[in-house]
Amino acid sequence: QKHLLGIEPLHPVEITTILDLAETYVDLNRRAVKHSDVLAGLTQINMFFENSTRTQASFELAGKRLGADVMNMAMQASSIKKGETLIDTALTLNAMNPDLLVVRHPHSGAVDLLAQKVNCAVLNAGDGKHEHPTQALLDALTIRRAKGRLHRLNIAICGDVAHSRVARSNLILLGKMENRVRLVGPPTLVPRQFAEFGCEIYDDMEEGLKDVDVVMMLRLQRERMDGGFIPSEREYYHRYGLDAEKLAFAKDDAIVMHPGPMNRGVEIDGTIADDINRSVIQEQVEMGVAVRMAAMDLLARNLRAETQEGVYV
Ligand code: CP
Repeated sequence: QKHLLGIEPLHPVEITTILDLAETYVDLNRRAVKHSDVLAGLTQINMFFENSTRTQASFELAGKRLGADVMNMAMQASSIKKGETLIDTALTLNAMNPDLLVVRHPHSGAVDLLAQKVNCAVLNAGDGKHEHPTQALLDALTIRRAKGRLHRLNIAICGDVAHSRVARSNLILLGKMENRVRLVGPPTLVPRQFAEFGCEIYDDMEEGLKDVDVVMMLRLQRERMDGGFIPSEREYYHRYGLDAEKLAFAKDDAIVMHPGPMNRGVEIDGTIADDINRSVIQEQVEMGVAVRMAAMDLLARNLRAETQEGVYV
């Protein structure tokens, strides 16, 4: 692949290749000296048109630990504010010969469109409700490390699936790797057409969490609700917030995941989130750096294979 725009185009073998390489970067990231030069001489530009803590920081650290020259565009201070379009912004940066562009954008499809206009490799850091491929990959690595495998697991994705690119990318990835995925939440936030992904749908946490190996919680993504149905937080927590009582329906060794940012007391109880025996939320963050290193390393190898004497053709 030239770009990483989504999980949809990836073959299970490619997913496994990324995760296997990421394992080696987990080890590198735990060393006192966390440095490699596999991206030395390459330029990485991060363009985040939407807020981020985890994804932006981990892409920046990943590039720096691999020796790339990393530039973070301050999009709020860019000429976008003077009316320049996304495409003209991309063409302008493209003229400076970057090698890797990391892009987050609030509109579904915007990153794919941008990728058609530039010569370098583009990594989707989340586009609207569409895809968040590196999140699904880091979740997959976290599950594989915790459970010892990434197939034939029962996994519940709970909460606001309708507005979640994380849920969509995870559904696709976990399905490709032959897991059984359940979606759990109110019908307004888990549209029944998601059944087309081959998953089971539940609107009751007791039924949805029964005997699952993995519980993945999602926040209410109010910024994408377009003034539609917004549940009261109190009522939502009562019915769908993960607490010890609801978690007891899952297997005794079920792990708890959350992509962040997390709203304690809304979709998850703070004591569950902090329970080091059940929650792997901090491991997810750690795996994010390793997975992004692996993704950029593999795309850079493809770029080098496509170039002649270092000049893109
Ligand atoms: N999970 C995730 O994408 O978090 P950020 O929005 O903080 O990057």
